[in-house]
Amino acid sequence: MLPPAQFNPPCRITRTSHFVVTVRDLDASLHFYTEVLGLIVSSRDSKTAYLRGVEEACHHSLVLRRSAGEPVCQRVGMRVMTEDDLDRAHDAFAAAGCAPKFVEAPHQGRTLHLTDVTGCPIELTARMDAMPRMITKFTSHRGGCAQRIDHCQILVPDVRRAAIFWMQMGFRLSEYIAPAGGDEIFGVFLQRKGNPHDIVFFNGEGPRLHHFAYAASETHNLLRACDIAGELGFGRDVERGPGRHGPGHALFVYFRDPDGHRVELFNTHYQMMDLENEPVRWDPGDPNISLPWGLPARRNWFEEATPFDGVAIRAPAHPPKPMTLEKFLAR
Ligand SMILES: [Fe+2]
Repeated sequence: MLPPAQFNPPCRITRTSHFVVTVRDLDASLHFYTEVLGLIVSSRDSKTAYLRGVEEACHHSLVLRRSAGEPVCQRVGMRVMTEDDLDRAHDAFAAAGCAPKFVEAPHQGRTLHLTDVTGCPIELTARMDAMPRMITKFTSHRGGCAQRIDHCQILVPDVRRAAIFWMQMGFRLSEYIAPAGGDEIFGVFLQRKGNPHDIVFFNGEGPRLHHFAYAASETHNLLRACDIAGELGFGRDVERGPGRHGPGHALFVYFRDPDGHRVELFNTHYQMMDLENEPVRWDPGDPNISLPWGLPARRNWFEEATPFDGVAIRAPAHPPKPMTLEKFLAR
């Protein structure tokens, strides 16, 4: 049985909006994100860089912080509609035991830090500094011309628990992965902004950030990103694809950045917001649904992910047994 939808949530979260990750060499990371993905630098100093997609008018959707330690994700950022929503969020997440706390964050309005039920460090804000949209500044478009942040995928040991928690906060279930004939859920696709994903939870050792994803407006942007990755020596970091997702039908390519953080560039998916839109079930046993053509991902794609800063990683009770490229070729 699926968790129920909550159409009148305690606060209005509008979307997944930004990520804060650590990197060991800020210049190397900026080279990757500006030349391969095509992100725009909003501001930077010797320790921190703030980047945005070419259509984004908010100050940042990716924050890179220089750190000598193991690369980690420090925050998954979400936006709420108004300042009132931020106050309501504080009360709702406090009642849920998430220890919310208001903090100062550069280039953002009041910012609420909390830890969700999976252990994932989240921050909410209603405002950021405004920047010019670069969507018609064609001479500044580079690499994959990443337009805007779209979603992230997080590995967690208990997918159902994560789904119940975030659906109570108003996230709608658009798609889910569940074997036929059982009640176990392997993955959930949850959304607030009206397309299938804002946050995706998959069964695995976690919590860990599997990837964050930018939308590209044109299919050829994906191929251009791959070509430029090859030219600049990042070719081996094209980890999966280009390929085609199943029901969402988006074309995708996954890169690993210089610190191993995984970023997806994809050509976006369908609209999902009307009341009659029921969640779509995928049976992972049907290869034509989860992989319409091409080869499956190599094992690394299923197993490797970015830890969250200072957050213990737990193993799932029933580890996934995905069809990896290695298994596929050994059949
Ligand atoms: Fe994705």
